[in-house]
Amino acid sequence: MSDKKPVFKPNKEFAKNANIKNMCEYHDLQDKAMEDYEGFWGDAAKEKIDWIEPFTNVLDESHAPFVKWFDGGKLNVSAQCIDRHLDSRKNKAAIIFEGDRGDIQTITYLDLYKHVNRFANLLKEDFHVKKGDRVVIYMPMIPEAAYAMLACARIGAIHSIVFGGFSSEALRDRIEDAEAKVVITADGAFRKEKPYMLKPVVDAALEGKTPVEKVIVVQRNHEDVEWVAGRDYSYNEMIERKSSKCEPEVMDSEDPLFLLYTSGSTGKPKGVQHNSAGYILWAQMTMEWVFDVKENDTYWCTADVGWITGHTYIVYGPLAMGATTVMFEGVITFPDAGRPWSMVENHRINQFYTAPTAIRVLHKMGEHEPAKYDMSSLKVLGTVGEPIDPPAWKWYYEEVGQSRCSIVDTYWQTETGGHVISPLPGATPIKPGCATFPLPGIMAEILDPATGEKVEVGEKGYMCITKPWPAQIRGVWGDEERYVKSYFGDVEKDGKPVYFTGDGAVYDEDGYITITGRTDDVINVSGHRMGTAEVEAAIKKHSNVAEVAVVGKPHPLKGEGIFAYIVLKSDDGIADEVEEVKAINNIIKKEIGNIALCDDMVFVSGLPKTRSGKIMRRILRSIAKNEEVTQDISTLEDPSIVEKIAAMVK
Ligand code: PRX
Repeated sequence: MSDKKPVFKPNKEFAKNANIKNMCEYHDLQDKAMEDYEGFWGDAAKEKIDWIEPFTNVLDESHAPFVKWFDGGKLNVSAQCIDRHLDSRKNKAAIIFEGDRGDIQTITYLDLYKHVNRFANLLKEDFHVKKGDRVVIYMPMIPEAAYAMLACARIGAIHSIVFGGFSSEALRDRIEDAEAKVVITADGAFRKEKPYMLKPVVDAALEGKTPVEKVIVVQRNHEDVEWVAGRDYSYNEMIERKSSKCEPEVMDSEDPLFLLYTSGSTGKPKGVQHNSAGYILWAQMTMEWVFDVKENDTYWCTADVGWITGHTYIVYGPLAMGATTVMFEGVITFPDAGRPWSMVENHRINQFYTAPTAIRVLHKMGEHEPAKYDMSSLKVLGTVGEPIDPPAWKWYYEEVGQSRCSIVDTYWQTETGGHVISPLPGATPIKPGCATFPLPGIMAEILDPATGEKVEVGEKGYMCITKPWPAQIRGVWGDEERYVKSYFGDVEKDGKPVYFTGDGAVYDEDGYITITGRTDDVINVSGHRMGTAEVEAAIKKHSNVAEVAVVGKPHPLKGEGIFAYIVLKSDDGIADEVEEVKAINNIIKKEIGNIALCDDMVFVSGLPKTRSGKIMRRILRSIAKNEEVTQDISTLEDPSIVEKIAAMVK
């Protein structure tokens, strides 16, 4: 039997008007980029960006892997996202906000301009935030989160958003690493019609010595919060007094725009740095190509602004191209699994972008919900964050997209700034679960790490990008060496280090790329990237834990779940396993947040280690999956441990 995947051609009517209409157009663009790389990117940057001063050089690789794009150019990203639309779109909705309780706000480009300028003046005048200062944003999904980001961009401050699900310890670590002087937060917000709180988490994070001088609090749910005199200020009280005009700071192309912390293979998260021109250019181009958003379209991405998807595809990308972006405060399955589809109907949404984990949950909880709503406005459906499994893909295609919409399986990372491998909705014949081809301008190849050669069809290799691209990570905040080692230390092509994503991938007989998952100790829980070392570091804080190893295990809804093997110092604890699990989970909650809670925890008498002390995680992964251990265990310090652990897990 053939294992060939079915192919779904783009809808012909849709393709007629798409920005990229067929594979010939795709190949023409990619050929142009290959023949004249700098010409390709230089032309795009001239056409798409409103430069205050033009750039003089497209790409400077002389200090690779530290690269500069569009050197000499001056711009301001907030002006790119707002000011330049005022002539033609001032009354167009920039953001449509839907609150948890169904409250709706429509914010036009002119409104957005005023909100952002006021916020920028507030930061500048009252909190003395200057160009280059770091501002941490710890916010719910409300429009003020977008205003805060754009206000930072306007005055040249570098924002660092910390996802609202992170704990006070995780927030503190990120604040300290970035040496932020201001935190922008909210009292809290609403979830499932009930208020929840964020400000107390900030208070706990700022206990003791901290670089933070001031905290700005947006009052969203108006619950009581503690106010620290001289440190905490109400946004709502101060903002109205601010002028709605603030000149945008003139920024160099390579001035940093933001930091975003993400997990790596060590316990310490990395502050991924993105700079101004290259990032915004690619955010805008991928919006146009991958989502094919048109002037009158309404686009909704369900991510949180705390992740890169929220940065690029809720705020910067849609606004840079002058689109209407939907922001949603609530939970997509509340009050029932028809919520997103009722939003599609109410707002006439044209592009819908979410994660496979959300698709699986919506499928499970409301298989027939989409049929109850008018879904005819939808044109493009997107997925991101993890491979999408065939049943989820099928349901998404047939029930949500009514077998009419293209599904764009967008592969990218915090570090790539925007999509790098993805179908084009009007051009690419799609195969379920396949990210398909590199986008035009992206030189992505699956390489054999040993030889640096492109792998053969069907052979697993490393997903690499062999040339710098404008939206690529520019550094790990405060750690040049970690940047070089983490991304350019594994694969060389023609004797030159190339960017390695950390993912494995494979080509099929038609050259389609399928991402096979991480090759390092990073797991993907509900589309959230989690370093196993981070979870291990948290668990080790429990005084009775001697050793721990964390691995990922396939999970029907989350994609991957967290599986922890724990060796306790004393066996007494095992007698009270429930209490021990509770205590460890409490530590994880405190150190990282609920997103890192373990799905499975087993207490074992030892871990499978080589004689040099290295934990053999592959064995642990097999046991967690209930697979037979086929690896050679003869080199282990104590081979009998494998059987003992397997017996405990069964
Ligand atoms: O393993 C890949 C997976 O998510 C990782 C990036 O995670 P993060 O930086 O948090 O960004 C998530 C949103 C862009 C990648 O290294 N990943 C992302 N998209 C896909 C994917 N795996 C398979 N298919 C995808 N479409």
